[in-house]
Amino acid sequence: MKTILVTGGAGYIGSHTVLALLEKKYEVIVVDNFVNSSKKALARVEKLTGKKIKLYELDCCDKVKFSQVFKENKIDAVIHFAGLKAVGESVNVPLKYYENNLFSTINLLNLMQEYKVYNIAFSSSATVYGEPKSVPIYEDFELHISNPYGRTKLIIEDILRDFSKVNPEFNIAILRYFNPIGAHPSGLIGENPNGIPNNLVPYITQVAVGKLKELGVFGNDYPTKDGTCIRDYIHVCDLAEGHILALNKLFSKCGLVTYNLGTGKGYSVLEVIKAMEKAVGKPIPYSFKPRRAGDIPECYASPVKAETELGFKAKYSLEDMARDSWNWQKNNPNGYDE
Ligand code: NAD
Ligand code: UFG
Repeated sequence: MKTILVTGGAGYIGSHTVLALLEKKYEVIVVDNFVNSSKKALARVEKLTGKKIKLYELDCCDKVKFSQVFKENKIDAVIHFAGLKAVGESVNVPLKYYENNLFSTINLLNLMQEYKVYNIAFSSSATVYGEPKSVPIYEDFELHISNPYGRTKLIIEDILRDFSKVNPEFNIAILRYFNPIGAHPSGLIGENPNGIPNNLVPYITQVAVGKLKELGVFGNDYPTKDGTCIRDYIHVCDLAEGHILALNKLFSKCGLVTYNLGTGKGYSVLEVIKAMEKAVGKPIPYSFKPRRAGDIPECYASPVKAETELGFKAKYSLEDMARDSWNWQKNNPNGYDE
């Protein structure tokens, strides 16, 4: 059975992917420094699967410690989730983002080369497209970046493209996620944001559970069907499945490949509120606020390339995503904190 190293495996997408990997009988090694996650997520994945996860608590920027993982294990592939992801924070402390996201990735690639581990899937983001010329967004669209977080993703993509040209033995999957929401249907693992959430759905669930008073809807004058922004929300379990399919592609010796992971459907902020109200069974108080700097009106994927080449097709509907987001929040009002 193949062994997969998952950096950032205790995080939101990482924990769901580790669960999916264990269910598919992969051996999993997690590296995480818990800067934005909890060990309880991994304990719950172990509980759900009845399997043990080998854990290294370390910072991927620490190459000496990180090298131990490669010395002590025979790794077949890496899924690289580790990174900082708060757009607003990245504007205020850009060096922290460049240092963490770039150094960790460069260390990882050096170690993979040294230990002859030739398969990697990298967590990129739809943010690399900036404001697209049209929707749906295809993988060959021009890339435009407007914030340091997004720039770290683009720089890493560029590093991977440069690296791939001179290291043809490497198989590299650049995965551009659209907007992951939802949680495992068990309600045992989910998204656990620090402080007040920046993202729409965690904000709504915290309003619904009574931790926040009211949602501010950022802008109702966009050129969209109801004036609010459109996004491609994808269930985190669908996203996890996308990584399993990406591994299959890597093991077929694909070289460098790039895929959107989205559903291909766009929903407005008001449509998401409506779906959440249905899941929660009560109204979500909200009011319109000015536009948020940096938001684009419309962003949704063309899922065709991932479907054709990976066999990836999102299964969960917006209704499912709303139900599972709420199930997680109501069972864990304080996330992983007791
Ligand atoms: P997350 O913060 O929940 O998970 C990231 C994990 O990486 C955390 O467990 C954190 O502790 C760990 N980590 C960060 N820096 C580290 C380091 N230097 N060494 C070791 N561990 C480190 O985030 P997520 O939502 O699960 O996102 C996973 C990846 O997907 C990130 O790279 C993120 O940028 C990318 N992504 C996320 C979204 C989203 O909306 N959630 C969208 C597009 C792309
Ligand atoms: N929104 C509100 N009120 C809130 C939060 C969000 O109205 O309190 C709106 C935003 O204006 C936007 C939509 O809800 O129109 C979605 O916002 P999110 O913050 O949930 O998601 P974004 O599309 O802005 O960004 C997310 C991730 C980024 C990633 C990007 C593209 O946060 O890291 O998707 O993948 F880069």
